[in-house]
Amino acid sequence: MKIIIEKTLVKCLCSYEFIFVFVFVTWLRLNSVRWERCFIFNIGKAPIDSSKVPIVWILGGPGSGKGTQCEKIIAKYGFTHLSTGDLLRAEVKSGSERAKCLTAIMERGELVPNDVVLDLLKEAMLAKAGEAKGFLIDGYPREKSQGIAFEKAIAPVTVIIYFEASSETLTKRLLGRAVSSGRADDNEETIKLRLKTFLDNNDQVLAQYPSKLQRINAEDSVDAIFNQVEKILDPLVAQ
Ligand code: AP5
Repeated sequence: MKIIIEKTLVKCLCSYEFIFVFVFVTWLRLNSVRWERCFIFNIGKAPIDSSKVPIVWILGGPGSGKGTQCEKIIAKYGFTHLSTGDLLRAEVKSGSERAKCLTAIMERGELVPNDVVLDLLKEAMLAKAGEAKGFLIDGYPREKSQGIAFEKAIAPVTVIIYFEASSETLTKRLLGRAVSSGRADDNEETIKLRLKTFLDNNDQVLAQYPSKLQRINAEDSVDAIFNQVEKILDPLVAQ
């Protein structure tokens, strides 16, 4: 009986079908391909159609006013706002095993691993895909590879709004907010590290999208900045 079982096992392991499945599964793992994307009904289908629902990336240094302007954009345009910082802080609050590691990274002002951020973002976007008039993706991408991964996994970006301000202005605003924000990363030491992370990556991120990039001087007042934002978004929603 034992010999029969052994023979059958060896036969199975040596069969073409087994070798094919083994090679295929290894390839998927090496390329980090997700199982659900292998099913035939998903092939070639972008999860969100950005030609119908605009996808706007909101970029800028820490404290450049991304969140402040997003609030105004939501009020006027009704777009769905997804801030990667907020998504990560919600994950941290959940107390999961992964959360402990995220807290440490965020307190060092570094970037959380790309796959964690993209998974959270994609999940949140898909949950709103049916109802969203447009997506405001706040604080993503923060490095070159994040932008590439997003467009591959979700959809091409429609327009990128970049809020430009000096390091002095950013530091001053964050220290002002620190008094009441209760955020673990709003302290002098972490602010320096956040700024460094931003400056190390920002030029490379922006350089990838010359035709979609819209720069706004974020040293102005909140309302003056929003006037600039409207000039970019009004034509988009009128289409
Ligand atoms: P995140 O939460 O995104 O923080 P941030 O990028 O540092 O930006 P903030 O939210 O602090 O500032 P903001 O630009 O929204 O400015 P706000 O409107 O609040 O990210 C936190 C961390 O999460 C990161 O460090 C990283 O570890 C991780 N993370 C996030 N995204 C990630 C990603 N994609 N990949 C990997 N890791 C990621 O304004 C700031 C203050 O200024 C407020 O008090 C406001 O009232 C004031 N203010 C705003 N506008 C003006 C104005 N025009 N004039 C005067 N004051 C103003």
